Amino acid sequence: MKLLFLNGPNLNMLGIREPDIYGRQTYADLENYIRDFCGELGIDCEIVQSNHEGTLVDAIQAAYGKMDGIVINPAAYTHTSVALLDALKAVMLPAVEVHLSDVSKREDFRQISYVRLACCRTVAGYGFEGYRLAAEHLLSLEKQ
Ligand code: DQA
Repeated sequence: MKLLFLNGPNLNMLGIREPDIYGRQTYADLENYIRDFCGELGIDCEIVQSNHEGTLVDAIQAAYGKMDGIVINPAAYTHTSVALLDALKAVMLPAVEVHLSDVSKREDFRQISYVRLACCRTVAGYGFEGYRLAAEHLLSLEKQ
């Protein structure tokens, strides 16, 4: 199974940004964590991070016909981006929304998620482990 792991703006600042919320591990640590569990689970992974909405849209479009699913942490674009929602709907790949923090317990403006409308599951508040839970869910769908 081939999965795209897509990370939105400011996730490259992990380890520096708001450590009380996002922890002290870096974005490189997150990439290593994803590569390690994908190796264990037999998943072929591509990991992309961008601070630019259009680049994230391009990455979703590029997954069409190439990947079997998408694990997406759209970061702040979660709460604003119809473009990411439309891109996910366009490619029709199974997608899981991931957030490191438990967005349901945070500010009102974080309660809206556009991408959620195109995702089969949301995993929030499990830190790095959320990415693994998301991938395991997509694997289980493939086996059905
Ligand atoms: C986040 C939550 C978002 O609200 C925030 O804008 C982020 C990170 C998370 O992983 O918890 O940048 O997606």
